Amino acid sequence: MANIGVVGSISMDYVVSADRPVKIGQTIYGQDFKMNFGGKGANQAVAAAKLGGRVTMIGAVGLDQIGQSLINNLESYGIDCSSVKKVANQGSGAAVISLIDGDNSIIYVPGANQALGANDILALKLVFSKFDMILVQNETPEATVSQLIHLASLIKVPIIYNPAPARKFALDLLAKVNYITPNETEFVSIFETQNYEDVLSHYPNKILVTLGHQGVVYYDGHQLVQVPAYPVAEVVDTTGAGDTFNGALAVALSGGRNLHSAIQLANLAASLSIQKFGAQGGIPSLTELKASQHYSAID
Ligand code: RIB
Repeated sequence: MANIGVVGSISMDYVVSADRPVKIGQTIYGQDFKMNFGGKGANQAVAAAKLGGRVTMIGAVGLDQIGQSLINNLESYGIDCSSVKKVANQGSGAAVISLIDGDNSIIYVPGANQALGANDILALKLVFSKFDMILVQNETPEATVSQLIHLASLIKVPIIYNPAPARKFALDLLAKVNYITPNETEFVSIFETQNYEDVLSHYPNKILVTLGHQGVVYYDGHQLVQVPAYPVAEVVDTTGAGDTFNGALAVALSGGRNLHSAIQLANLAASLSIQKFGAQGGIPSLTELKASQHYSAID
């Protein structure tokens, strides 16, 4: 079992389903409202745990009832939360999500997630050194993410950087991450071009661009490779598909799969995740993944 450390956000998702987007100044009727466990970091931790990783979560929640329920949820998947900070002066992170025809738009309010500082990362150096893989996203302060990437490189623990939501970062950090997993929008905002080949060819086997139903593209040292997504009968909720992809990728790579096969497995996990409601509601277990008709065709 691989040891995976996930540094990132732990939030409550407030999800409204409606039949159309609301315009400024308009009031419309929604169809449903639910509170779901979410946060990109927490979703990735749950995905890694459900798919067979031994997972430690590093993040921060508010010292309140919601904070405790966020931790209880992670612990119910066997995730070690002993390094999650409880912050007295901030509420837990929140995401207001509108879900229209299975597609989401999100307003993220960091709250306590902001309290995970660069110093917290340094203080956990010994904890980080026991990991086989580290995963991080952008719902955590920039200085914290940057400190983590420097530390991971120093202690030689591989790191996957999921740059979501998009934000600029010093490109020298790219040299220190093992994998970076932007979606199309994040790719353009980081590299300021839509020409994948131009950029990817400088970073073989490192930049994996996730393209939704078109799969994932990366450069293997010789050519661009597109790893197709799996067909889905009905898309129920795309929230957290990228997180499932990243959590599964971490498990697959640290379990010894090659990059191509790890992407196939992560694509399959993501395709299963969007067939159920909620960021974490559709994340498949290892048993569910293996039961898929597509599993046996993975390299
Ligand atoms: O990636 C999906 C997640 O991002 C949601 O669970 C929500 O918390 C958001 O910020």
